[in-house]
Amino acid sequence: MRVLGIAGSPRRGGNTDLLLAEVMKGAASKGAEVKTVILNDLEITPCQHCDACFEAGKCKIEDDMQMVYGELERADRIVLASPVQFMGVSAQTKAMIDRCQALWARKYVLKRPPLGDKRERKGLFVSVAGMKLANLFEPSLATVKAWFKVLDIAYGGELVFPGVDEKGAIAQNPDALKQAFLAGQRLVAE
Ligand SMILES: Cc1cc2nc3c(=O)[nH]c(=O)nc-3n(C[C@H](O)[C@H](O)[C@H](O)COP(=O)(O)O)c2cc1C
Repeated sequence: MRVLGIAGSPRRGGNTDLLLAEVMKGAASKGAEVKTVILNDLEITPCQHCDACFEAGKCKIEDDMQMVYGELERADRIVLASPVQFMGVSAQTKAMIDRCQALWARKYVLKRPPLGDKRERKGLFVSVAGMKLANLFEPSLATVKAWFKVLDIAYGGELVFPGVDEKGAIAQNPDALKQAFLAGQRLVAE
């Protein structure tokens, strides 16, 4: 069982990072092989809508997204972590998601499995937001659920915490970290 964590925050050691680390620890405690990619450390050009991917289901842009496609293909479980930024996912996260247009093309244009095989994959979304508004996570959830659906990754739920703003503030909520650890355990047990 391979679990891929995708860290979408620009802040290292920030709130989504801390939650993601707990999810991954929980998964590892159940014997999963875990790997986390940090989008902010990668060069991921936004999708250019050139439609080159319609030919072979591959993006022609040779940047770090090529590595991310490989990690997504190898993973059985995917944990996407992004803070809310201007009511949506972070720019780093959205750039990665948009580059999955190549996988959309694989599935809907070329009629092939988007991640290369038909194994059952499952995904979890982790997020935090500084505010406490109603429906704070809805725009991010719409984007993330659409992404999982296109990639044929079954939606395994979300772990979201409003009212968390300062870097590392989530650590003052041990229950949140515990929930994250348990969610990681459940993700691989299911
Ligand atoms: C560019 C930017 C935009 C943000 N937009 C929102 C927002 O629309 N709503 C909100 O509740 N918090 C917003 N925040 C606050 C972050 O969601 C919050 O600080 C969060 O804890 C950051 O998580 P991180 O430590 O994982 O990066 C924004 C922060 C930044 C830097």
